[in-house]
Amino acid sequence: MPKPTSHFVCQSCGTVHGKWAGRCDACGQWNALVEEAIGQLSTKASNRRKKGRVMEIVGLGGETADPPRMASGIKEFDRVTGGGLVTGSALLVGGDPGIGKSTLLLQSSGRLAASGRKVVYISGEESTGQVQRRARRLGLSENPVSLAAETSLGTIIDGLMQSRPDVVIIDSIQTLWTDQLGAAPGTVAQVRACAQELTRFAKKTGACVILVGHVTKDGQIAGPRVVEHMVDAVLYFEGEKSHQFRILRAHKNRFGPTDEIGVFEMGEGGLTEVSNPSALFLDGRDDASSGAAVFAGLEGTRPVLTEIQALVAPAAFGTPRRAVVGWDSGRLAMVLAVLEARCGVSFAGKDVYLNVAGGLRINEPAADLAVAAAIASSVFDIPLPRDAVVFGEISLSGDVRPVGRSDARMKEAAKLGFGRVIGPAISRKSGEIDPQILPLIRIKALPDLITRVETSANGPAVLDSQAEAAWAA
Ligand code: TYD
Ligand code: MG
Repeated sequence: MPKPTSHFVCQSCGTVHGKWAGRCDACGQWNALVEEAIGQLSTKASNRRKKGRVMEIVGLGGETADPPRMASGIKEFDRVTGGGLVTGSALLVGGDPGIGKSTLLLQSSGRLAASGRKVVYISGEESTGQVQRRARRLGLSENPVSLAAETSLGTIIDGLMQSRPDVVIIDSIQTLWTDQLGAAPGTVAQVRACAQELTRFAKKTGACVILVGHVTKDGQIAGPRVVEHMVDAVLYFEGEKSHQFRILRAHKNRFGPTDEIGVFEMGEGGLTEVSNPSALFLDGRDDASSGAAVFAGLEGTRPVLTEIQALVAPAAFGTPRRAVVGWDSGRLAMVLAVLEARCGVSFAGKDVYLNVAGGLRINEPAADLAVAAAIASSVFDIPLPRDAVVFGEISLSGDVRPVGRSDARMKEAAKLGFGRVIGPAISRKSGEIDPQILPLIRIKALPDLITRVETSANGPAVLDSQAEAAWAA
């Protein structure tokens, strides 16, 4: 029997199949199998073994200087990259189509070029005319960024080898193709081969290569996550399209911190930096409404205050809805279960909606208590004290557990004019929470919070001081 010359690779999980099928056996994805030729990229054994070269082995102790960096001057961008772009590195910027990746990178390259770096922006999606029009809108038409519209990898590498830029932007990796492969652009094989070649170019010449990748709806970089392993840093640009805020988040970074975020605002003239995100996320907050709690969170090293809104309403249909925007729905289910089991608050026949205002996505368990407070406030239709911020993790037993860096959270709240904190008595690392920063309303367990909300329900309209007494520290 002749040796097969091609096989089928699932574009979703990368599993290799001998023959085509409508559905991938491994991941269950429909219509994801694409034919690829076998063995075109394999390196011959004779190439692999270089005679006379012995692997060098060193200890862990050596002195190495920090890698040289190119700061863009856009503070929020530099914060996320860990202080600027590293020479000889490859970076992937992912995000939904239309979120503003091209805008962000065009603006950053403009700043880098203005500071004397040689920047090449290669667009595979838009014509040079389209990018020029955008540049004019962003006030960059006089900027020395070099621009090209090209999708063939060979042509791109040849061109780059000649011009030797400091920074290369490829917008986007999914449009590139190399004629060494039979597969169509955007398939795993093409994305992998092109990313590999460009990463090699970066290491060889000391340029920083930034790859743009579109993310599919379920959060995967299309043409799976193969590129993530190859590059030195992965940044995600995210946000709700209906909101102005855009958040650049480091997902992986070999040269800097992860969890760091940069906040931008999309406007007429492109993206502008937001140096005080808390003020932005709390902008336009309605003081006296029930179902809202201000969460003092941490994004990387930076404290960020956001409003968490909850609405508990009678369900119109048999099965109640649980809808969440900006938080984990599994975590919401847990908080609801603890409220039912430990505090006797019933959600049977009730819809629960939860929303993090401003389009931020919160990943911290420290938001548990703020979520519970917002839900309780909605259930009893009683506003929380308007000058309070909330944080604390809830355990399944209903206890409120300490969280990290309470001081930073409280200082940010104090800076923004909040007067007290609803939270656990101790902080995770530093022991006692310092009540010097802000008075602390101590919540030992969840029922304690419910009692306070209920007690203050005895009449904020009638007897304000009684309602206040419920929240006394
Ligand atoms: P874009 O950078 O093209 O997104 P991506 O590259 O991630 O697909 O951004 C497109 C959106 O940004 C588009 O909906 C219009 C909006 N936009 C502005 O609001 N203001 C601007 O100045 C620019 C350039 C774009
Ligand atoms: Mg784009």
